[in-house]
Amino acid sequence: TANAMWGGRFAAGPDAIMEAINASIGFDKRLAKQDIEGSRAHAAMLAATGILSDSDAQAIREGLLTVLSEIEGGTFQFSTALEDIHMNVEARLKEVIGEPAGRLHTARSRNDQVATDFRLWVRDQCDAATTGIEALMRALIAQAEQGADWVMPGFTHLQTAQPVTWGHHMMAYVEMLARDRSRFADARARMNESPLGAAALAGTSFPIDRHMTAAALGFDRPMANSLDAVSDRDFALEFLAAASICAMHLSRFAEELVIWSSAQFRFVRLSDKFSTGSSIMPQKKNPDAAELIRAKIGRIFGANVALMMVMKGLPLTYSKDMQEDKEQVFDAADNLMLALAAMDGMVRDMTANREALAAAAGSGFSTATDLADWLVRVLGLPFRDAHHVTGTLVAMAEAAGKDLPDLSLDQMRSVHPGITQDIFAVLGVDNSVASRISYGGTAPAQVRAQIARWKELLS
Ligand code: ARG
Repeated sequence: TANAMWGGRFAAGPDAIMEAINASIGFDKRLAKQDIEGSRAHAAMLAATGILSDSDAQAIREGLLTVLSEIEGGTFQFSTALEDIHMNVEARLKEVIGEPAGRLHTARSRNDQVATDFRLWVRDQCDAATTGIEALMRALIAQAEQGADWVMPGFTHLQTAQPVTWGHHMMAYVEMLARDRSRFADARARMNESPLGAAALAGTSFPIDRHMTAAALGFDRPMANSLDAVSDRDFALEFLAAASICAMHLSRFAEELVIWSSAQFRFVRLSDKFSTGSSIMPQKKNPDAAELIRAKIGRIFGANVALMMVMKGLPLTYSKDMQEDKEQVFDAADNLMLALAAMDGMVRDMTANREALAAAAGSGFSTATDLADWLVRVLGLPFRDAHHVTGTLVAMAEAAGKDLPDLSLDQMRSVHPGITQDIFAVLGVDNSVASRISYGGTAPAQVRAQIARWKELLS
């Protein structure tokens, strides 16, 4: 049988395969709430501008609430033959209220309708991401506060570089997450314009009020170009780009947790609640949540690339290709929120091993730079010469199977006679971190200042 919406021009209905490739109801039912919100705003505007009678608009607005409660209550019968959420809702509205339902689509198209629904949905996800990011920032700050002066090795190339503090390392992620948060805020502000009323692509001859629907839906203003309004998806791409970068940050931290929780590092102990065991090896406690967070970047970045590829060759305006935008964004959003929540839980529950961190901080010649700096500051050596002297001392210690503080003063003086007993003070890791007082450095005083700043900003 021909389609109920456009059957006038069609003699036959679609092939089953056509229906299968065409339908989006299987996933775009997630836009039901936004679709009904948009339609209710549209109906109210049609009445306010005299395009629709008040009684018809009233019937439509109430009927839509009935449909929404059916969907939320799980009694709604979704139909693939009706393609998508927009037509499913409208068809059901017709069953519920009869004739006035057919007037809802005046001065509107599914093109501006779907663009509106999807913007509203993605806008909500920007807010959800912000909430998730802030919770994680608070968890990291709590960790940082506890260990503001706990020493640990700082790494470059995953080789011991210089001692830093646990608090400083935690706060590094707070900075990254703060930028992620601001990316979602920027994207949200840019996407907050209403496509509704662009109609199919050219606008409409009906005397609609786009400012009214924009305001009713919480948009800042209507989009200024109807062709752009129905055909661009940069708002979704921006969300995916922000999500990708955020997931990348989570993934780096997850990788650190995987390394740190190993028996070889023992920097942290993850809680039982965020670990799994092995079915064969009784001793195992695996950091699965961290590993899965590390893996999520793949599908989120994949969604970003997939949607870029969908969009890149499309002539203006709407093409059905664009229906492929939703699953990518849904999946990416779901997994980002899950990753944020899992990381928040792991960070809240994990215990840093202060002793293991300190032991590691003091090994691997981590204070060699402090020794070189002392030679510059006290003996007046050019830094390059100090670097060479220190390198010789490191080689000497390494050959003897010792660390720098284990060399005797005589051994040191054999490399440079100017060295005095004072040198041993700068070889301690606590002195080392305490000396890094430059702005943004790892000295506990600096770290505490950053913790205080962020607690203030997040309160
Ligand atoms: N389900 C469609 C989508 O998600 C709605 C818009 C359909 N518009 C059209 N001209 N066929 O893109």
